[in-house]
Amino acid sequence: MTRTAALVPAAGRGERLGPGAPKALRVLGGAPLLVHAVRTLVHARGVDLVVVAAPADGVEGVRAVLAEHGLDDDGPGRCATLVVSGGETRQESVARALSVLPDDVDVVLVHDAARPLTPTSLVERVVTAVRSGAGAVVPVVALADTVKRVDRADQVVETVDRSVLRAVQTPQGFRRTVLEAAHAAADPAAPATDDAGLVEACGGTVVVVPGDEEAFKVTRPLDLVLAETVLARRRAAGVLD
Ligand code: C5P
Repeated sequence: MTRTAALVPAAGRGERLGPGAPKALRVLGGAPLLVHAVRTLVHARGVDLVVVAAPADGVEGVRAVLAEHGLDDDGPGRCATLVVSGGETRQESVARALSVLPDDVDVVLVHDAARPLTPTSLVERVVTAVRSGAGAVVPVVALADTVKRVDRADQVVETVDRSVLRAVQTPQGFRRTVLEAAHAAADPAAPATDDAGLVEACGGTVVVVPGDEEAFKVTRPLDLVLAETVLARRRAAGVLD
């Protein structure tokens, strides 16, 4: 039996969100962003293990938060949850989580703690694409805005053809061997903003699946307002979060 693990880099400070707790521990609808993200992974079919990379000084705190929300239990039939210390960059946090995976894990997802409202259906779509033979999979959405390239003097250089651009979300999914090789080849001095980027950098193929607009990343204060609204709408409709 082989298994699927989900790695959750959650060690960022979240400075763009303003002062306060590390981003993953900011509260949305009564629970930290991280709890929403982990809960989704635990509830998704086909995810057997979740590894969270916590801020170095917050490992015990993150363990306590997960326990408080019933996400520390690895009893029979339950998805196990581990917490490791994250690194200085997202890439390092992912590498640390990757390094503790048991041998029987052959598919790995990487999912930002900062995407609390990602539907389980999206997680399952990514797992299915990897289990169907893809080495690396990213969920994508079209861009709403027109995109322009600017120079250092803030002058517009060109308008980019939006029809060939996609915004990339998480979870991203990988055959374990593909992700490990990409991390082994990565340059720590020039960290990538996503894991698929590391696969691309070493010549690997990355395929796309449809993303979901509710899988948006909470980055700025307005994103938290939007997330609260989406969550309230889900709760009013009786959708479990
Ligand atoms: O900063 P950004 O929003 O791109 O971070 C994406 C994810 O990477 C977040 O979940 C954040 O907690 C995580 N991260 C990390 N370790 C870092 C920096 C970011 O785990 N050193």
